Amino acid sequence: MIENAESRNEGVLRHLAVIMDGNGRWAKKRHLSREIGHRRGAENLRTLCILCRERKIQYLTVYAFSTENWKRSAAEVGALMRLITLFFRKYAEELEQEGIRLQFIGDRTNLPAHVIETIEQAEESSKDRRMLRLIIAFNYGGRREIVEAARSLSLEILAGAIRHDDLTEQMFAQHLYLSDVPDPDLIVRTGGEMRLSNFLLWQAAYAEFYSVDCLWPDFGAAELDAALDDYKRRHRRFGGR
Ligand code: FPP
Repeated sequence: MIENAESRNEGVLRHLAVIMDGNGRWAKKRHLSREIGHRRGAENLRTLCILCRERKIQYLTVYAFSTENWKRSAAEVGALMRLITLFFRKYAEELEQEGIRLQFIGDRTNLPAHVIETIEQAEESSKDRRMLRLIIAFNYGGRREIVEAARSLSLEILAGAIRHDDLTEQMFAQHLYLSDVPDPDLIVRTGGEMRLSNFLLWQAAYAEFYSVDCLWPDFGAAELDAALDDYKRRHRRFGGR
């Protein structure tokens, strides 16, 4: 969704995005496997959903698996794939009680069949829920998303549906995954790095960025509220004065 200062509700955070980094380091510190670290990370995602719902945040987008994560060991990739199915089995009822709608963004073509089934079932069964939309970026890459949008727009141009010199930012945004979602107001990255790592490249244009050393499984209510307080103190200008 394309936004400007007028269309934004200044100060109110509608859309929070999180790069959940640090599961591996969290596990290493405790002499546990990376898989256990990811499992604790998934449990913390459940906690974050409840915290966001209590704080009346409407959209929460999290980076769970990037297009680059295939480079990890087969064991770790397999564990992350299994985790998504386990997560929805374990928390389906609670997500329903909390009124949480699920949406997945990313390339589904090369995912295992059980993951595609989980994703489709979670989206279909939750589509009428309204309290919070949890958007999970899974096999997601920002550059790939932009290229896919360019590809589908070029087909429309070739078909004569639009003229190339009529193309606008709004039209482009309509071809991205989150065309009906306001752009993120705040992007939080745990684990101390200061990079976007190919996350929501288009949508992050005017987002505030907040990096915290805390490792993802340890990111709780106090850390979330510190990020939200920091956000409130920032004066957002959207390129104006
Ligand atoms: C980066 O931390 C984290 C990931 C690649 C995976 C994030 C996944 C989860 C939190 C689980 C999500 C679960 C569901 C159900 C969607 P890292 O392991 O690279 O940490 P490190 O930098 O300390 O090694």
